[in-house]
Formats: sequence, C-alpha cells, structure tokens
Amino acid sequence: MSVKIYRRVHELQGFSLKNCPAMPAPTAALMCPPDHYQVLAVKNPYMSGQVGAVDRAKARRQWEQVREAFDAAGLPVETATPVEGLEDMTFCANPSLAGLRPDGERVAVLGAMRHPSRRREVDAFETWYKARGWRTVRLKPGSHHTFEGSGDAVWHPGRRLLWAGHGFRSDPETFAQIARAFETPIIELKLVNARFYHLDTCFCPLTTEAVLIHPAAFDAASLELILKIFPIVVTANEADAGARMACNAAVVGRTAIIQKGATTVSNHMLALGLGVCEVDTSEFIKSGGSVYCLKQFLFGRRH
Ligand code: ARG
Repeated sequence: MSVKIYRRVHELQGFSLKNCPAMPAPTAALMCPPDHYQVLAVKNPYMSGQVGAVDRAKARRQWEQVREAFDAAGLPVETATPVEGLEDMTFCANPSLAGLRPDGERVAVLGAMRHPSRRREVDAFETWYKARGWRTVRLKPGSHHTFEGSGDAVWHPGRRLLWAGHGFRSDPETFAQIARAFETPIIELKLVNARFYHLDTCFCPLTTEAVLIHPAAFDAASLELILKIFPIVVTANEADAGARMACNAAVVGRTAIIQKGATTVSNHMLALGLGVCEVDTSEFIKSGGSVYCLKQFLFGRRH
C-alpha cells in the first residue's frame, strides 16, 4: 500500500478513488462531557469577545442533544472522563486521530497541540485508548511541529484515504508520520483563512462522492485537488460556514448532524438524499467548534 502524500493535481496521475481500498465505517463516537468547558483565552477568531461567556448548563444540554443525535443515527457514544483545568477537552476531535491499519489494527495517532493549554488533553486520551487495547502513536519527539488530530485530518468516507489540512494548527511536516501510522495516502490541503483554522471547519465529506466545502478557506491548488477527486462538491456560503459552522457537521450513514439554521447547506444535503438532523451548538460555536469536533470517530470492534 502506497503512503504517498499528494500536494498538487498533477501528482495524482495513477491515483483514483476506485483504486483506494475500502475503509470500514466508524463503529462508535468518542465524546467528552463539557463539565469544565469554558472560553478562557482567544485561540481562534470565534473566541474573540467570548471569554467567560459560556453558559455551562446550556452547553451541557446542547452536548446531550448532540450525543443523542449520534446515538439515534446509529452510532453508539463512548465517553472520556473530563479533566478539571482542561477547558477545551470536550472538543475531542483534536487531541487524536483514530483509524485502522490495513490489517484492521486499531491505531490512534496522538496530537501535538499548538496551544499549551490543550497539551494535557493528549495524555488523558492516550490513557483512554490504551485501556481499551488501541495502539497509540506519538509524533517523533524533539520536533516542534504540531498536529491537531481529526480536526485537521479527515477520513474519506468508505476509503483508505486521509485529507489533511495545514496552515494554522497542524504542520505538513507531520503528515508523513501519519500516513505511515495508518499506511494510508494523504491529500494535503492548505488553509488560508483564519476563521477556518481547522480542516473540519471548512471541509465535510458527505458521501464517498460528495463533499461540502467553504471555498474561501483554501488556496487554489487545494481547491483543484478537491474538485479533481470528488465528483460532487457543494459549497457553504460565508454565513452558514462562519456563524453557523455548517461544515463542522458530522455524517453518520445517511444522516447529517448539523448546527440548526444553516438552511442553504441543509438543502444541499437533502438534495443529495441525506437525512438532516439539526442540533443547537451555539455554546460551542463561542469557542470555534460545533458537531464534528465534539466527537472522535472510532473504528473496529466495540470499545
Ligand atoms: N477552542 C478550541 C480551539 O481553539 C476549539 C476547537 C474546535 N475543534 C475543531 N476541530 N474545530 O482549539
């Protein structure tokens, strides 16, 4: 299995989605209750003006709604114990990336977080994975490069292929290690707009053939790569992608779970034959996150 990293369209010669081996669908979602969730410092544009502004009781109710939505869509939810002092731990997409190797081994690549306030989250999730028999992989020590897990590395639905974003939170120098850990090729995308600081804020695969993106988040070469691979590309306008974080939706089977009110995007999803389940994640959008980053997709046998 090749572990090539593709950065430009001309490098895709010989590559086709059809030739990518199948990758099983997620079997569970890992979530972390927002017991200690708060906005304490501004790490992304959404957090500006929101320091101390989280209504924790409301956040808890919204989080339960997201958890129920995953469950109802057919994905059982596992939980990790929240750690005091880790105010962003509820965004459990970021401190790791879970997946399968070609032989079915469950591997979690651990994140190397850009912001010091998030670094201890990684240890907590490492413990969680190890206790359940996953192999964990740390990036090579001694490098200052960062990688923010499934916030910046998104599996292609049903295919052994990763889409990886860099520019704000993750460094492309880490991608070869990630490709090797999963024995999976990577298509590398450059993010150029600080409001879309993680790949999962502007790129949401809907099916094997269709993706939802916010085009202004990417450089031209990245848009070319997306258009080359996905036969169907639908776009989120600035209002839906920004204020409503519509590209941070999560698709489970044929159901898209998405922040409520992103009407243009929900209509695209309905037109593609997906079911739409709207949830309210307004308390999490204050911190720059919505449905996708409140969970980590897990693979393989039950955990
Ligand atoms: N406040 C968190 C941060 O800035 C939000 C992370 C949201 N996660 C995501 N994958 N978009 O790190």
